Order: sequence, then C-alpha cells, then structure tokens
Amino acid sequence: MDPNGTLFFPGQSSTIASEVDLLFHFVLYLSIFFFALVTGGSFYFAFKYRKKGKDKFTPGISHNTPLEIFWTVIPTILVFIIFIWGFKTYLKMKVPPANAIEVKVTGQKWFWTFKYKEGANTTNELVVPVNKPIRLLMSSKDVIHSFFVPNFRVKMDVLPNRYTTLWFEAVEIGEFDLFCAEYCGTGHSEMIGKVKVVSDADYQAWLASSGGGSDLTPEEWGKELYKSKACFTCHSIDGNPGVGPTFSGAFGREETLADGNTITVDENYIRKSILEPQAQVVQGFQPVMPTYQGILKDEEIDALIAFLKTLK
Ligand code: CUA
Repeated sequence: MDPNGTLFFPGQSSTIASEVDLLFHFVLYLSIFFFALVTGGSFYFAFKYRKKGKDKFTPGISHNTPLEIFWTVIPTILVFIIFIWGFKTYLKMKVPPANAIEVKVTGQKWFWTFKYKEGANTTNELVVPVNKPIRLLMSSKDVIHSFFVPNFRVKMDVLPNRYTTLWFEAVEIGEFDLFCAEYCGTGHSEMIGKVKVVSDADYQAWLASSGGGSDLTPEEWGKELYKSKACFTCHSIDGNPGVGPTFSGAFGREETLADGNTITVDENYIRKSILEPQAQVVQGFQPVMPTYQGILKDEEIDALIAFLKTLK
C-alpha cells in the first residue's frame, strides 16, 4: 500500500499496520463474497421457483444431509481461520518487546501529556525514535479517553484509577495524527495531538535539550507554550469566548467572579488560575480547568504571563 495511504486508509506507518489491514481486508472481502452469494441466491431462487400456475408448487424438500454438512463445515473452518489469525495478531499487539522505551501518558480534559524517564515532558506531542518499540503506560485524570493513532493502527482506552498500555514501532519518520477516540465532553474534538517520529540521533538530541525555550524571549516562549500546552483548546486569543475566557485583552481586565467579587487580572491572578483553577472562576464559565501543578515549571508560567501581556 502507498505509504501516504489510500482514499480509505491512512499510510501503514508501524510494524503491525500491514498485518492489521490484511486481516481486516480478509474479513471484509469474505463478508462481501458471502453477502453477494446469499442475496444473489435468494433472488435467483425466488424468481426461478415463483408460483406460475394454480397447482405448480415444487413438492416439499425438507432435508439434505450432505448439503447441511457442507454449509456447516465450510463456515466453521473459515471462522476458525479468522479466530486463530486474529488471536495471533492480537497477542502481538498486546505484548511489547522487553527492550521497549516506556513513556508515561496522561489523558485529561482536554489534552495529552507525555513524561519520559529522562525528564522530558510534553503536551500533545509524543516524540519517538523510528524503528524502536515504544510502550505507553497510560492513565486518565478524569473521564475515559482513548489514545488513537490511525497510521499505526493502534487504539486503547485511557481510564481513571488504572493503567492501560499500548505499544507500537514506527517504521517511518514523520508526523502522525493522534486523536482522542472516546467522547469526553465539550473539548473532545480538540483533544488532538501529534506523534513525531524522528531518527535515533534526533531523538537523543531532543531528549538532551528538552525543557528548553532558552533561546526565545519570554513572550515568544509563552506563545510556544500557549500552543504546546494546549491552552488554545479553551482560551482564544482573538476575543471569542471558548470553554474559558479569551486571553485577548485579559491582562489588566476587571472580571466578575462566580462568587460576585470583582478582581483585576494581574500576574498573581494568572499564576493562581494556572495552579488552582477552581479557586477564582470568572462568572459565566464552568469550573472545568485542570490544574497545571507539576506540568508547568515556574519559568514557564512566567513566560505565559509575559505572552498574555502582549495580547491587547
Ligand atoms: Cu478525551 Cu475525547
């Protein structure tokens, strides 16, 4: 198959993809064949043995043992083929190689965070080396989400209070879409990310340099964080309200809170809203923001504040 995919399928970008597709197509074409056979046969016989005259019924045929055996044995064999084939592929997808690189994945409304044991920590962007098995250890902070990368043909639910795992090995360098495939509330359709597959050398370099942002001004870094930490999912910068208040003109604005008090949006209010989002919610908005405690470092919060100040 074309690496870029076809009209019906995305490209096969993991080791398991072609195997999954082959089994899928086997079941699909087998089903189409029997569908045509059964419906075609029904129409043909309904026409051939239709009632023509008054007494022209075909004499009753009630049983044919060889025929019964034939149409029982053939489908049973086919079902066994599908089961054994499917189970083998399932086991392969379920059991990661022992040398797999482990990344901790957290799903929450409405973004993904990835933690590497080397210390790197990303939002909505999973960076992995090509041709290496990757094992994801996943859990949710709130409701059920589902981790789905169509190009890799892998999907697994991500649950609160329990770990689920998934593994894959990417076979080509590139960026692949990551979706949440379980309806999880208002921002479900925005819960999207990328899997960035890079060469092993680039991966090592990325691990060593991650956490960076040092070559940017605080304002530029804040703008990067606004995108990479998925703030944009709920907070626009064009003045339109989303799930949360717009960032446009937010700094210095007077806001009425849910409890009726008014505040001025300053550095401390922004910091508190990031770390304790439920403490001072602006009137008219739901208290749905997750805390970024442990996700954003102090310098990153400083950079976001600097960025907000630029939005008039
Ligand atoms: Cu998370 Cu849908």
